[in-house]
Amino acid sequence: MERQERKSGIFHAPLLSLLKDSEWATEQEIARHIGLAGLRLDREIETLRRFGFAIESSGSGFRLAGAPDVFFPDELSWGLDTAMIGRDVVVLDRVSSTNDAAWELAANGAADGLVVLAEEQTRGRGRMGRSWFSPRGGLWMSILLVPDKPAGQATALTMAASVAVAKAVRTYPGCDASIRWPNDILIAGRKVAGVMVETGSSRSLHGTFILGIGVDVNCSEFPREIEPLAAAMAVHAGAKIRRADLARLIIRFLDELYIQIIRGEHAAIGEEWLALSSTVGQRVTIMRNGRTYRGEVVDMDPVEGLMVRLDTGFVRAFRGEHVTVVK
Ligand code: BTN
Repeated sequence: MERQERKSGIFHAPLLSLLKDSEWATEQEIARHIGLAGLRLDREIETLRRFGFAIESSGSGFRLAGAPDVFFPDELSWGLDTAMIGRDVVVLDRVSSTNDAAWELAANGAADGLVVLAEEQTRGRGRMGRSWFSPRGGLWMSILLVPDKPAGQATALTMAASVAVAKAVRTYPGCDASIRWPNDILIAGRKVAGVMVETGSSRSLHGTFILGIGVDVNCSEFPREIEPLAAAMAVHAGAKIRRADLARLIIRFLDELYIQIIRGEHAAIGEEWLALSSTVGQRVTIMRNGRTYRGEVVDMDPVEGLMVRLDTGFVRAFRGEHVTVVK
């Protein structure tokens, strides 16, 4: 696998976190909170500047005036306060697919909740064997999940990921995201993000899932065939978005939902999904195993999947892995 890993420990993550949380951080505050002072503090400030962080200084202290749109493992995982997801973060510059990297790390014993991010994917993949356009400027992330009771969890994990991404995207002005079954995140009818769940097939990876999340954050150009269907978040927000901040939000939301899945509390996820969904109430055509079904979406069940009242009058469940919705 081609990959270059971005190192952790290259700067002082607690200092960056303190600067992010304060308007101006005085030298006394910095010394009190994280024990850095004098020459050591100057050196750490210089290191952060070298990595592209704009730090202003005055007699009273330091202020973070700007941050580069780059993923740093330390910044991503520092102070996340999540129970499971993001305790370990791997950042790659260029990789075939973050899912490939996550599977390889899983096979080598990586722990539940590992996050893998890349600046660029050369063979990103989407659902149903499609390729996923993954240039620089996007958020390409895979998460290793090993729930205690893996049976039947793929649909719930897809829903949880869709909810987490939609909630995180919606925190940005102009990004009024909704979910289209099973895994598309849309703003104003255009796809900005997609999620997919891959399931371990070998005996040693049985019960292991890799959740792949792709968000078109600041991507400026798309191939002609997806141009009319997609639009980057930055276009809707009217400004570039710092991907590390978005990644941390998604990880936080997803962690809460993953804990609910582990506890078997699926109902709350279903409710959140419904509240964000643009699918319920719509007429759909569903292709499944070569057959076509038509009807209206009436509900969503985190285990059973999409509940559709067919034109025959029967209500039938369709799981995302087997379904393509054609409006
Ligand atoms: C879809 O809508 O079809 C799902 C797209 C998922 C894309 C992400 S990007 C990060 C991860 N690595 C991949 O190769 N795919 C997923």
